[in-house]
Amino acid sequence: MIPDPGIRRRIASRFSRAGDRIYIRGKLATDPVYTATANAIEGRRLPLLDIGCGLGLLGHYLHACDALDEYIGLDHDGRKIAQGRDAARRAGLGDAIALRETDAATPQGVRGHVAMLDVLHYLPRERQDELLAFAVDHLADDGVLILRNVIRDGSWRYRATVWEEKFIKAVGWIPGGAQYFPTEDDIRRVLEPRGIRVAFRPLFGRTPYNSWLMTATR
Ligand SMILES: C[S@@+](CC[C@H](N)C(=O)[O-])C[C@H]1O[C@@H](n2cnc3c(N)ncnc32)[C@H](O)[C@@H]1O
Repeated sequence: MIPDPGIRRRIASRFSRAGDRIYIRGKLATDPVYTATANAIEGRRLPLLDIGCGLGLLGHYLHACDALDEYIGLDHDGRKIAQGRDAARRAGLGDAIALRETDAATPQGVRGHVAMLDVLHYLPRERQDELLAFAVDHLADDGVLILRNVIRDGSWRYRATVWEEKFIKAVGWIPGGAQYFPTEDDIRRVLEPRGIRVAFRPLFGRTPYNSWLMTATR
């Protein structure tokens, strides 16, 4: 399910920059990941830690769905954090949506659900295990870990994504660009020995990209 136009408009209107508003309306209209996350945590009301949160869109969306009380987003991009905070204040959600400008693996005093959407591949391969372990450390016993990432599997979608990431790097949207796309085994190898069961399913949306949704629980 895709958020209805009313929710999309309401969330976008909280952001002060026209470019962000256009991006958010398009993103919420085409990307099923926000609804997939709301569905994954339905009925388990816990705080949610969003690693690599960008503008904090997931927090705005989950609050609009009345899916949680507390959202903490981490991102090292100061511009996105400042814009997201400003938008949360405008919506009267300044206390409910906490956005922190920090590295993705900075320990937080919270355990609950954990989301990490389209982030892993921006870290070098040697840091990805650390970040997955960090996510597990912040997962409550009945929490859900929601990961979305491109998976390295040699498909045409995978190759299309590699080209898209080259473009994103060239325009400077994500400084540094993609470092390493993990395989399914790379992810299982970290999660399963920690007692985490993970289910993979494709989540391509209306894109040519090789995006997979992983929902994981203890
Ligand atoms: C493609 S965006 C995804 C944003 C958000 N998760 C979403 O789906 O709307 C990836 C985000 O990861 C952040 N990021 C990448 N490496 C990071 C790191 N080491 N520490 C914190 N944030 C990081 C980037 O700044 C960027 O905002």
